[in-house]
Formats: sequence, C-alpha cells, structure tokens
Amino acid sequence: MTLKANELMDKLVSLCKRRGFIFPSSEIYGGINGFWDYGPLGVELKRNIKEAWWQDLVLKRSDVVGLDCSIIMNPRVWEASGHVVNFNDPLVDCKNCKARFRADKVFTVRAVLPGQPENVLVFAGVESDDEQLVRAGVIAKANSKTRRRLEDQADRTVWTIFRGDQVPEGAASLCPACGGMLTDARKFNMMFKTFVGAMEDSSSVAYLRPETAQGIFANYRNVLDTSRIKPPFGIAQIGKSFRNEINPRNYTFRSREFEQMELEFFCHPSEADRWYEYWRGERYKWYTDLGLTSAKLRLRDHQKEELAHYARACADVEYEFPFGTSELEGVANRTDFDLTQHQKFSGKDMTYFDDETKERYVPFVIEPSGGVDRATLAFLCEAYTEDHAPDENGAPQPRTVMRFHPRLAPVKLAVFPLVKKDAMPEVAERIYQDCQKSGLVCFYDEKGAVGRRYRRQDEAGTPFCITVDGQTLQDQTVTVRDRDSLKQERIAADRVIEYVRERIVAR
Ligand code: GAP
Repeated sequence: MTLKANELMDKLVSLCKRRGFIFPSSEIYGGINGFWDYGPLGVELKRNIKEAWWQDLVLKRSDVVGLDCSIIMNPRVWEASGHVVNFNDPLVDCKNCKARFRADKVFTVRAVLPGQPENVLVFAGVESDDEQLVRAGVIAKANSKTRRRLEDQADRTVWTIFRGDQVPEGAASLCPACGGMLTDARKFNMMFKTFVGAMEDSSSVAYLRPETAQGIFANYRNVLDTSRIKPPFGIAQIGKSFRNEINPRNYTFRSREFEQMELEFFCHPSEADRWYEYWRGERYKWYTDLGLTSAKLRLRDHQKEELAHYARACADVEYEFPFGTSELEGVANRTDFDLTQHQKFSGKDMTYFDDETKERYVPFVIEPSGGVDRATLAFLCEAYTEDHAPDENGAPQPRTVMRFHPRLAPVKLAVFPLVKKDAMPEVAERIYQDCQKSGLVCFYDEKGAVGRRYRRQDEAGTPFCITVDGQTLQDQTVTVRDRDSLKQERIAADRVIEYVRERIVAR
C-alpha cells in the first residue's frame, strides 16, 4: 500500500508521539520551536544509530580514534574557523505579517498563459526545502478551479520561479504565509551566543558549537602526540551541535539543537582525492546496509559554484523524505584549510613530519559529516509500513509495522506467555530476565490477546516475539514470530539469546 507524502508524514508524526519515539520539547508549556525530545523508544533507536556508527567507523577500524570534547570552546576557535564572520543564512521578513524566512527556502511562483500576461493562473510565495517540489507544491495547494485550469492548460502554461535570495532586477518576492512583500535578504549569524562567568559583556561572549568538527581540529595535535597514530588516520566524534535556524522545519529535519556524527580523516595531500572517493562510497553504503533503499538514497556531487571556499570536492548523501529529497550527510574534501587556519590563529604547529620520507606537511582532511537526528528521521520514514497480518482466527487485519533493521530496532525481542496460567508467565518471565541480563533490550507483555500484543510490537518495530505456550512446558521450546515474514518457528527456549543475536548481525 503506498501512502501519499503528507499523509505518510502525518501518520508517522502521530505514531512517534503515541508510541514514545519523539515528543515536542517542553510540551507542557506549549513547546519551543526547533527543539525535540526522544521518548523511551526514540532514545533506543537513536542510541542504536550512534552505536552502529561508532562500531563501524571507530571500533572496527585501526585507523580511526574517538574524541569527546566540550561544547563551549575558546571563542578564538570560531574566529579561526570562519564561523564568526561567515556562518550566516540569508534572512527575509514579510513587510506585512512580519513572518521570517530563510531567503534560499522561499520561492515566488508565477504561472501565466502565453500572450495573455494578464491571465495569471498563479502568483504566490511558497516555502520549500526542495526546489524540485515547488511547482508540485503550488498545484497541490491551489483551489480546485485553479488546479483544473492548470491541468487543462498544462502544455501552454509558462512558469517563472525565483528564490528569495536571487530576486531578478525589478521583481519582488512574496510571503508564503500572507502573500505580502518580502524585504531584501540580509545576513543572519546562526551561532547561539552565551556568556562565560559572572560578567555579561563582550569579553565573556562564547558560542554553543555549531558543529563538532572544530573540536576535532583543536585537538588534532593532542591526539597525534598521545596516540601511536599517523596519517592517514581519522578522529571521530558524536555530539550535540546548536544552530539558531531561521525557520526550523519538517519535524526534526531542521532543528536548533541536534546531534552530529563527524569524522575528520587526515591524510597526505597527494592521497586526498583517493580518500575522498573512498569515504564517499563508504558512507553511502553504510545507509543502505542499515536498510535505506537505494531507490530513495542518492549521492549528489556539488557543482563547483556550490562548493565552500575551502572545499575541493563535496558530495551529499540525500534521502527522499516525504517532504522532499534532502541532505542526510555531507562528505567533503576540506583540504588543509582548517589546520592552516588554527595554526595561524593559535600559533601552534599543525604540521606532520613523516620520519620515513622526511617530509613535513599540513595534512588534508576528508570529512564525512552526518546528522543523528536526520538519520533517525530517515530510518523512521523508511520503516513505516502499512500492510495486513492475520489475527487469531487467521483473518487478515490491517497493521502498522515499523520495519527497522534489527540492528537499529529499539526493542530486539518481546516475550509473551500465551495465557496467564499454567506456569506460562513464570517461564516467560525467566526467559525475559535472561535476555535482559545478556544486554538485549527486550519487553515482557502478558496483557490481552496475543494478536493484540503482536500488533503493539509491530508498531514499535520489534523484530522478534517469543511466545511461551503449552508445548513449552512439555519440551522446553518456544515459538519465535518474525515481524516481517510473519513466519513462526519453534526453537529451544535456551537458544533464544543466541537466535536473536545471530539474526541482528545477519540482516
Ligand atoms: N562540519 C561540517 C558540517 O557541519 P553541515 O552540512 O552543516 O556540515 C552536517 O552539517 C550534517 O549535520 C548535515 O548533513 C545534517 O545531517 C546535520 N545538520 C546540520 N544542520 C542541522 C539542523 N539544523 N538540524 C538537524 N541536523 C542538521
């Protein structure tokens, strides 16, 4: 069953709230725009994503080490990195309703029939993360009369679309909220400011980090001097970042507080192109290995004019979210820009001396930089499925199932007694406790019909349900029900942990 994009998003947001994946932050006070909390299921899903990243990028490799540095650093870090001057988004205000927008995310759209300039079918402002969807968004929002005219005249209609930060001479851009005129775009620095210590003056200004990467560059010398590592090598960090986004949007996609998983990989300049290609491929594969279908995932290479001034190459891993195709992660060749800047601003030597070749150089950096919250949202969107499963009498019933990869599923298995008698609860409880002690996140449920219990676990995305029944008491076997295939098989009760572990790794 395929769901329309906005219908899917509404259903997903509702499931996330109802089942405890994601809540609006400080909801009892009306929430706060751009901040989100993760509930009991959400926190496990997010932890599993971070754990998978750490396992695959740090623990399973001998050329990457980890780091956990402070969120607030000496403000000189942000002068050196260029964030104080350059970390700006273009901001526009509506002169009428005073709403604020990111200028590069608002579009003014005009649709007319040729030869009849007075015959304007559409003249409106639209907000969108995906430029490709602007036209479809306008058509979807139009009233039925306009939509019919647009459909009838589709071949003849001439569309003009421009971005709020690329307004043609003599034109004006329109507010997506009220249709009023927007101001010219101006720069808005997105770093959150705070004060360190008791004084609140310019000497005590500090910033909440807008990326974890700079903490890695600031510690590059420490790591090099204290570990036996040498280029090519990487330093990885997972942690909170903060950006005062002009317009947080699309659920958790663009938040003001979020987590990043960043790897800075240091190598000889002559090997940078090769490592860039390597990490570009590795990072795409990581997402498909964990269940994002390649039909919805793509690697988009940046055009030359899109590249940041310090980057030699950049590719985005993009996912087709229900609200448009957008960036999950960026992989960039940052050259020696950051280390050179920190060398200049701190006066500390950032070069590496190669004992074998007797060469001294500032390493180039390849940076795969992903968002934990965006990855979580992509895995949630991908997992959401509606299908049918048989009830106790074998009749197919509609169900909602979160088809998470077993490695990411918040709960790995649920244990049920078939009925609440004949010692079944005691046996089930023992299996549950053994699984819990072994480190598997599991859930015990003895309430209601077993079919209802399966449905609840399907919605949580639990890949395996174990049922203790009459036969268990005879031969110490239990049934295992697979969330996706719905197949049931009997296995020895003392093999449950091994069975689940094998399948988490295998898929
Ligand atoms: N160090 C490079 C860097 O920070 P970025 O493209 O600005 O690059 C990297 O951010 C990743 O961080 C993005 O691909 C995205 O997944 C995540 N991210 C950035 N801004 C975000 C926001 N406002 N909300 C959620 N995630 C965000």
